[in-house]
Amino acid sequence: MQKVTIQGLVRKKTEGKRISALTAYDFPTAAIVDEAGVDIILVGDSLGVVVQGLDNTLPVTMDEMLYHTRIVARAAKRAMVLGDMPFLSYQVSVGEAVRNAGRFLQVGAQGVKIEGGANVLPVIKELVNFDIPVMAHIGITPQSIHRHGGYKVQGRDEAAAQRLVDEAKMVEDSGAFSLVVEGVPVELARKITESVSIPTIGIGGGPHCDGQILVIHDLLGLFDRFVPKFVKRYANLKETSVDAIRQYIAEVESGEFPGAEQSYT
Ligand code: KIV
Repeated sequence: MQKVTIQGLVRKKTEGKRISALTAYDFPTAAIVDEAGVDIILVGDSLGVVVQGLDNTLPVTMDEMLYHTRIVARAAKRAMVLGDMPFLSYQVSVGEAVRNAGRFLQVGAQGVKIEGGANVLPVIKELVNFDIPVMAHIGITPQSIHRHGGYKVQGRDEAAAQRLVDEAKMVEDSGAFSLVVEGVPVELARKITESVSIPTIGIGGGPHCDGQILVIHDLLGLFDRFVPKFVKRYANLKETSVDAIRQYIAEVESGEFPGAEQSYT
């Protein structure tokens, strides 16, 4: 099976074809997502919230990210796997960023994602210089939750919107191969998408981005502590799972399980 490449993703944008991306954090989920045919699997630091039960992504560590990226990469036969650089893995120095990003490639990722715009240009340039593909991430950047005062839509006034368009061009010029645009008004996401030649991947950015990404737990209805407006649930696996487990408990208690079929003679 042919692996999804940067060149293939850029071609999709040129040909007006949409790119699909999802997060995954473990082997069985990544295998399902890959079999379904998604283009990009992001091992997002969102795992801190949807897997570890944290309130935000800031405590997630490199070691945790590498653990999850290694097992996701093992499952992904076709999809491009990207590792999400966690808080403090790229801010301290460019050298540390190169070392940490390189570790993602060593465990099987094809590239990394970094939150930030103008502030991370030297990092993007150096990673690209050392052949580490970078997906940038602007708009709502969850690692900036304290500066933004929560997960708030970005670029609502003209100056902020222009700054995001400028930053999109800057990350492209610095060598990023793609750009996540999170939580911005629809028309701004369209303007950003039209301003750059690299593919934009929207999450809460409306329909004009070159692709879309969602957190898999949101899409499958496995996470309900909070549900952002941009989430569409395609299944309710939490309800299905609770029903199945309740049935199991009832059958254990009644003695119906295990039956003859599940027992050795
Ligand atoms: O951490 C994450 O999963 C992300 C995506 C939702 C873009 O950053």
